[in-house]
Formats: sequence, C-alpha cells, structure tokens
Amino acid sequence: MSLLRAAALAAALSFSVPFAPAAARAPLPDDPDARAARVEAQMTDDERFGLLSGIMAIPLPGSGLTLPAGVPVTAGYWPGVPRLGVPALLATDASLGVVNPLQLRPGDTATALPSGLALAASFDPALAERAGAAIGREARARGFNVLLGGGVNLAFDPRNGRNFEYLGEDPLLAGRMAGAAIRGVQSAGVVSTIKHFALNAQETQRMSLDAVIDRDALREGELLAFQIGIEQGRPGAVMCAYNRLNGERACGNRWLLEDVLKRDWRFPGWVMSDWGAVDSPAFLLAGLDQQAGRQLDREPWFDGPLRAQLARGEVPRARLAEAVRRILRSVYAVGADRAAPAASPDPAAHAAVALEAARRGIVLLKNDGLLPLREAGSVLLVGDNADFGVLSGGGSSQVTPHGGRPRIVEPGGDDVIAANFARRLYMPSSPLLALRGLLPAARIGFHAGYSADAAAATAARFDVAIVFATRWEGEGSDHATLELPQGQDALIQAVAAANPRTIVVLQTGNPVAMPWLGAVAAVVQAWYPGQEGGRAIAEVLAGAVVPSGRLPLSFPRSLDAQPRAKLPGLGLPERTPLRVDYPEGSFIGYRRLARDGEVPLFAFGHGLSYTRFAHSAPRLLSRRPLTLALTVRNEGARAGADVPQLYLVGRGSTPLQRLVGFERVELQPGESRELRMTLDPRLLAEFERGAWQVPAGRYRFAVGRSAIELGEALELQLPARRLPP
Ligand code: BGC
Repeated sequence: MSLLRAAALAAALSFSVPFAPAAARAPLPDDPDARAARVEAQMTDDERFGLLSGIMAIPLPGSGLTLPAGVPVTAGYWPGVPRLGVPALLATDASLGVVNPLQLRPGDTATALPSGLALAASFDPALAERAGAAIGREARARGFNVLLGGGVNLAFDPRNGRNFEYLGEDPLLAGRMAGAAIRGVQSAGVVSTIKHFALNAQETQRMSLDAVIDRDALREGELLAFQIGIEQGRPGAVMCAYNRLNGERACGNRWLLEDVLKRDWRFPGWVMSDWGAVDSPAFLLAGLDQQAGRQLDREPWFDGPLRAQLARGEVPRARLAEAVRRILRSVYAVGADRAAPAASPDPAAHAAVALEAARRGIVLLKNDGLLPLREAGSVLLVGDNADFGVLSGGGSSQVTPHGGRPRIVEPGGDDVIAANFARRLYMPSSPLLALRGLLPAARIGFHAGYSADAAAATAARFDVAIVFATRWEGEGSDHATLELPQGQDALIQAVAAANPRTIVVLQTGNPVAMPWLGAVAAVVQAWYPGQEGGRAIAEVLAGAVVPSGRLPLSFPRSLDAQPRAKLPGLGLPERTPLRVDYPEGSFIGYRRLARDGEVPLFAFGHGLSYTRFAHSAPRLLSRRPLTLALTVRNEGARAGADVPQLYLVGRGSTPLQRLVGFERVELQPGESRELRMTLDPRLLAEFERGAWQVPAGRYRFAVGRSAIELGEALELQLPARRLPP
C-alpha cells in the first residue's frame, strides 16, 4: 500500500534543524496572535519551512528512516526553533488514547478508552471532556504536544470502517461531544485537531473518491458538526481529509478551507493535511497551512517545491507568514510550548475514566425481562474471546492498552503496515472472569463458539446463554454488508434454538443486521468498549450498573433504502477515481428515515434501562434565546440515568426532524428534575444564500426516548431570522 512506497522514500529525508525540546518559559504577557506575529517575523525561511512540512516519524522496516536525536516514534514531527523558544511539534494519534505505532516504542502502553461511538452513546459531554483530558495528560507526559484526535465525520454510511472512531450521525451530538473532548485534550497543554475535514464518509477509495454533495446541505449536516466542535472545543488545528469534495481534494479545496473555515467561521488556527493528502504546493494558496506525513505524498510539496515557488514569486510571502503564524498562535493559545508537568498521570484514575465511559456507552437494545441476571443458576458465555477480553477497532487509532498483553489475531502476510492495520486486537478485560466475580453463586462456563452445533448442545445445559458476537472494523476498509462475519448469525440462531434464554452481546463498530432478533431474549450493544470493557459489560449483565447508553446512530433494517445501496468503489483497484453522490445532504440517519417514513431496526437515541422514566411535554421558557423546559422523573425502583432528547419534529405542514437538545441526568427512584434547553437557531434553519435562514412558521417540538418514540408536541409560531454563516 501507499505507506510502504512512502517508506522507501522516507530514506531520502534529512533534517536541517535538529530537534530540541522547547525550553520551559514563562508565558509572554501578550496574546497568542501578537506573540505569533512577533516570533514569526524573527524566523528564517529554513525555520518557517520546518514548520510547514513534516514527516511521519515512523521508521518502517526497510525505509531507512533515521529519526533525529530525541524524536520518539510517532505519527508526526516538525522541527522547532529552539533559539526562539518554538517547540518541535510532536503529533500522536489520537481520539481513543495515545497510540504506539507498530509498537515501535517498546513497552509503551496507554489508557485505551472505548470507541468514539461508545463515548457518543453516553450523550455526556462532561465525560468526553474527562476522557479528552486523560488522553491529553498521557500525551503530554510522553512529550507529545499535538493530538490528532477530534474525529467527527458523520455516519453517512453504516458500512464506513471508521465510524467506530467517530461520534455518530447527528451534528449536535457529534459536535458537542467532539468539542468537549477537544477542550479536555487542550486543557493538558496539547493542541488537538478536529478531523477529517470533510465528508470522509467511507474508507473504500478514500484517496481517490470525489464526494459530491450540495454545498448548503453540507453546511446543515456534516459541516455543522465541525462548526459546533470548533466553537465549543477551539481546536488549534483542523485536519483536512483524503477525499475530494465536489471536485477538489479536501486539502486543496479553497471553498472549504478559505471560504468556510477561515472566512465564515473565522478559524484562527492552522489546517494540517492528512498523511498523504497533498498533491501540490498550490494547496497553500487554497488554505492548507501544513503538510503532514510528507513521505506519503509524491513530493515534500511544502518544502523544496514550495521554496521554489516562493523564489519565483508565485506564492506571496505574506501567505507563507500567515501559515506559520497560524501554527504558532495555536501553540501559544494552548500552551503547547510549556514544559510538561513533572508528575506522570495516574493510570488508575485514567482506568476509572475508561471504565465509566464503557459503562455509560453500553446500550441495552432489547430486554424481554431476562436482564439483569439473577444471582443463582448457570450461565454459559459463548463466542469470540469472551474468556479473554474485548475487541478493538483497527488502524491509526488503535491503542496498545494498559493491563496486560493483548490477544492479537494476525491476518498474516508480509506487508507490515497492512498486517498491522488489519489485525484484530483484543484488550485483556475478560467478561467471563468479571461475571464470575459479580455472580459468585452462579455456575458460569465458556464455549469458544467455533462450532454452532457444539455451542448449542452445551447451551441447552445452562439456564442462560450469552453469545458474544463481534464485528471488527478498521481504518482503510469498509464492510460490504451489515452482516456479522464468520458464521456468527448461525451461531446465535443455533444457541437461541437450543436455549430461549439467550442474550446477545454485540461488540461492533457499526450497526449490524439481526436476523435472529425475535429469537433472543436480550441484546446488549457494547461497541468496542476499551481496556475496562469486559468489566463494564459484566456489570450491566449482572445489574451492578443500570444501562444508560443511547444509540448515536440509527440501525437500519437493511441497506436497500440507503442512499447508496451498494458500497461505492468496492472491489475496484486502489486509487480508482470515483464519484460518490450524497443526495441525502443533511438528511443523514434518522433525519432521512423520518423524511422517508422508514422505520429503523433500532432508532437513533434508543436505549433501555432497568428503571423507568417519565417525560413531560416541552414548555416554553423564553423566546429569545429560544429556551424550552421539560421534566423527567424516575418512576422505577432503581437509581439510573436517562437521556431525554428534544427534537424539532415539524415546520408548518412539513415533517422535519432534528435533534435540538439532550441531557444525561442521573435520578434516584422517585426523583424528578427540570431540564432547560436553549436551542441553537441553526438547527431550525436552512443554509441559503450564504447564511442561516430560519423561516417564519409554526415549529413543533417533542421530547423523545428516541427519534421514533416521541411525546406530545409543543407548537410555537416563530418569526423569521437570518444568522451569519
Ligand atoms: C489517518 C489520520 C491519522 C494519520 C496519522 C491517517 O492515515 O487518516 O486519522 O491521524 O494517519 O496517523
């Protein structure tokens, strides 16, 4: 693959500026912009270009790349300017924990958080901020000052192999969660990115596909997630995507980078390329500020070729200075030039964050009353490594977890990068052992599930059977269907036929089809639950934790009615140019299902509990800003958390569904709480003629347990409004 070709090129790299750690300096009294301008003005061109063009600091086998002294193996490196106190930029992946690429930093394990979808399922921005802060501290303690996190691409396609890294299908949910995570990361003095800007909605042909979408609709959907994430998180950098967008490569897309991001949104930070996403030095003029992982591009475009353009007067010097200033101002605004704190982060405290995130992210999809499990009796766990641990997603986000040696299923082959990206890594957190600890009086057995018949025969001898079904996803590839692989549907069918008291625990990075749904008593969606995942799953099964996760994306009944029934580009040679249309525009997921009158298998926002909640209808509290209130009450016998969701459900006679508010709230039995939600007017608007236009009309709002379980609506006449882009 491209990484290997690039690896060979890496041998040719050399550095004119040696790495030197930034000196710990007292912050200067002026603001980051003024400071950036002053420092930039003192730099030589060699120093400027050092910040504009960086390498992937991974000495791949055979690449001959020697890292400069003091530079650890990591995703990205740009030399600093020690004489001016500018630190080298050391960038690490990413959203789910600090990544140790190819385990080339021997022994370096890190807290492995649950996948992005699990975090999003918590509907809990405060938790996302804690998770971000934990990752930020671990990054900083290792000397990294840029975190390549903040993945916020919306789930346009339930087959996208990277959906697990992202935050679901809704712009408000994804934007708020991303913004909170970024705030957490940057609180540790580490610049965070937000990525992949924009519409990197599938992995198949990601380098060559042209994502075609109506520009205004893009603003109302995917770009709104980025916009909210940027407003709330203030990331220092935006990472542009691999794909083309309406004909232009995202990293050379003037409309996207200059008109939308820098002009309309007034983004003050820098635009960093994805690794291998630059085609020419002219991308600078389209708004790209920095080339990353330059061995993966055909040329070190933002070094030699850009220097030549500058010498010929084809690039204004002012644009070069601006790019450098943008980088510096983010470094100063976040404090990434300051020394790391002396104390290392506490792994136990971070494990507690990972555990809490796994607990809050687990979604109870179906329960005929079998859950929570009672103390007595016998339980058989069946299937994919449930004796050992939990699955994780593959690719650049995969963390080498704390807590013991992971179990790795290698696909084989001699292509080291491809093998690394395609391997299945199980984190050592055994659901079997955790359940035995929680239910000491029960007889709890395990069957590997390699044979459906054998598993079914064993399951018949137990009171309850729990099948652990998994579907691995990873960067660089998508699934063609929604099926569980490796005969797991047949395994579940066989076990359920032998024992009607069968529960399915899913560890997947996307929605899956459930042909066996009617035959099983309960379904638990655990996503990829991270290093503490086995314990969190067992706690939900045993009832030690009351489930509170809600689906951050719809589970469709089939792919037939999807905007793209077949996955575009599947099976074509890599890098085949391809047009992929997104006619749904901003009608992503539940918004489209509602418009088309389609019923999902499980709806966005759905999630059951072991207690019961009642919701009032929404009430009007104030018109400007538009604020609605609702009351939620725990009517069950157990303490638990609910996530009331406020939806726009119609404008005039047009059904139009959009999530406009949500809050996770913990309530004791009998306790009630009034929740106030101030609505972002952009969620009531269409983007037209360069601005957000809220048409005058009658707007209907309802509180939902999910996008399809809606309470009584409140109807309000609202005046027309126009808001800047
Ligand atoms: C991914 C990015 C990642 C980068 C550095 C790319 O292949 O798309 O998300 O941050 O590599 O590892």
